[in-house]
Amino acid sequence: MGDKNTSSTVDRAGKISRLSEVQLEKMIDSIDEAIIGCDKNGYINIYNSANERREKMNRKSVLNKHVDEVYDFHGGKSLLMRAIKDNKPILDQYQEYTTEISGTYVEIICSTVPIMEGDEVIGAVSVMKDYSKVKKLSKIIMDLQNNLYSTDKTSKPKTAGASHTFSDIVGENLLLRDTIIWAKKTAANNLPVLIYGETGTGKELLAQSIHNAGDRRDKPFIAINCAAIPENLLEGLLFGTVKGAFTGALDRTGLFEQATEGTLVLDEINSLSLPLQSKLLRVIQEEAVLRVGEMKERKINTRLISISNMDPVNAIKEGLLREDLYYRIAYISLCMPPLSKRLDDLPALIDYMIRKYNEKLTLKVENVSAELFASLENYPWPGNIRELEHIIAAGMSALSEDDLQICLENLPPNIRHKLSGVNNTREIYSSAGMSLEKTLNSVERRLLKKILKKNNWNISKAAKELELKRQSLQYRIRKYSLKNTD
Ligand SMILES: Nc1ncnc2c1ncn2[C@@H]1O[C@H](COP(=O)(O)OP(=O)(O)OP(=O)(O)O)[C@@H](O)[C@H]1O
Ligand SMILES: [Mg+2]
Repeated sequence: MGDKNTSSTVDRAGKISRLSEVQLEKMIDSIDEAIIGCDKNGYINIYNSANERREKMNRKSVLNKHVDEVYDFHGGKSLLMRAIKDNKPILDQYQEYTTEISGTYVEIICSTVPIMEGDEVIGAVSVMKDYSKVKKLSKIIMDLQNNLYSTDKTSKPKTAGASHTFSDIVGENLLLRDTIIWAKKTAANNLPVLIYGETGTGKELLAQSIHNAGDRRDKPFIAINCAAIPENLLEGLLFGTVKGAFTGALDRTGLFEQATEGTLVLDEINSLSLPLQSKLLRVIQEEAVLRVGEMKERKINTRLISISNMDPVNAIKEGLLREDLYYRIAYISLCMPPLSKRLDDLPALIDYMIRKYNEKLTLKVENVSAELFASLENYPWPGNIRELEHIIAAGMSALSEDDLQICLENLPPNIRHKLSGVNNTREIYSSAGMSLEKTLNSVERRLLKKILKKNNWNISKAAKELELKRQSLQYRIRKYSLKNTD
């Protein structure tokens, strides 16, 4: 009985393992990425269909051959062999080669990992992405940008790229106003500025406003998200390339040159690799760029605005931002406060969004219901103003031309669901995503507002009722930006 059980378990396990082997093989063969693997001596033992298509070779003619027999790496070395020798993964590496059998020229972005059995390397596998598609796309972007921003100094750029000004920034909150006062000062000079803040707080809006308030307003404004461009293309895109710098490279001006006399915004600068950060540091120090593949420096006069979605001090601590670069890009550092810290602006922002969508949707909505406002006031706002706009737009899209108010029930279920549970204090404690600090702040803020209102904003009386010192209440009024119009 015991023996039978054991053997049936072994059988079953055996079948499962054969099944997963076949599944794995099918999977490898059906994906778009080309995959190649070899044993520790460099003999190819995996070669999938995507690779057959890209390299125009049949797997029968490739399997069991040595990588050096199948590929010519143009003087370089096989990444598979390098990963085996160094026993280290090589990630997102550009490689070009020609196949010996079909004569196909290939450019790829390749990630290669050694395969271990215990402590021993028994082979390696590479997953390869087609580089030519990425290259084609980025060339299109660069060409478009070249056309858009004429380098002819006599003509104005066809579009300046920045449409917003300081007057588009809604809100009177003290933290926000402080940021804006400093932003206006920086608009007048051309020193590098760093804007940081959570997602959706209006960082791009502020960057555009700074550009449009300065004497560069008629010059190019170019914003690029550093996190969205593959690392190996970003250097060429930022600093330019010269013909022959690498295969397919043409003479191209980089964004720093294209934005000369204007403003270049480097968004998500904290995602820039450290080597590229040191090149950027040099560009800022020298006020000149070296196009990739060229030794001659080209002078630039580009105003740099950097944007980070994390506090730069934390980014430095976490090794994501070089400290020396930070001092160069952030002569002035501007924080866009999160909506949770400027809830006093909620009515004005709601009003602004309603007016915006009244126009877009031809409606005549006036406000939100008291119940909805209470929910909005107690919500933690992880997506900040962008999220508020999304909620107002979603609510208004359900209204008809006679409706004057957005109510909770006009919101789609997913939004109602996330807003529910923040409506009363008891439920706040169980609200997902609400940190203890935010919860306590929210409760404290509402209590202060209630008692101040009750005492007609007589600080001494309110402080007495709250059993606080006058100064302590004043500190809290400043902390929560409370006003007697609230
Ligand atoms: N104070 C404000 N007044 C009016 N609209 C605002 C304000 N702040 C932000 N917005 C609007 O909110 C949206 C998000 O703003 P923006 O794109 O500038 O945010 P961001 O901080 O750059 O976000 P991300 O980090 O996700 O890129 C935009 O539609 C913007 O116009
Ligand atoms: Mg942005």
